[in-house]
Amino acid sequence: MTLLKIARMGHPVLLKTAEVIADPTSRDVGRLLENMVETMEDATGIGLAAPQVYEGKRVIIFKSPRERGEEEAADSDFSPLTALINPEFDPLDDELAVGWEGCLSIPGMTGAVPRYSRIVYRGYAPNGEAVEREATNFHARVVQHEIDHLDGVLFPMRMTDLSMLTFNEELKNFMEYAMEQDAGADDHADADEE
Ligand code: NI
Repeated sequence: MTLLKIARMGHPVLLKTAEVIADPTSRDVGRLLENMVETMEDATGIGLAAPQVYEGKRVIIFKSPRERGEEEAADSDFSPLTALINPEFDPLDDELAVGWEGCLSIPGMTGAVPRYSRIVYRGYAPNGEAVEREATNFHARVVQHEIDHLDGVLFPMRMTDLSMLTFNEELKNFMEYAMEQDAGADDHADADEE
């Protein structure tokens, strides 16, 4: 296995539409996935799309781990480490939630991004089996973020309020300011998501 270099925002590979994979079970895809998993874990990310490692192919990996204190949450909020080839999704309804996101291609920054709360996604596992799953909340968010990478979209391009793009080190200051401005604002309720 090999640690791969991660492309950063501004590199054109992140703005291109990735190619459909003809054979999800091919050795090349398997090798790419192994290296993507190692690279993501090394960078302590929770999702990675092939264009982020300079491979313009429709391949993503992600996870949505269950944290302590979330025992009561729905199973669809969580996912073990999953690899998906040629993924796509549909929203299950129109509900959007604003939550904080980061990206290994935009190191050191965090932004509040509206995403669908409930989706169904489809794709192929590395063994060629078709996958279809419902996802909610953070699980739905990470899948939408990774699929966006396959279409050349980075999270700031989805933001509706760029004043909520902050350096990680400033997030605490930002949150204090936001709480002062608008005590109890629902938009900020998801702030601990990432
Ligand atoms: Ni990303």
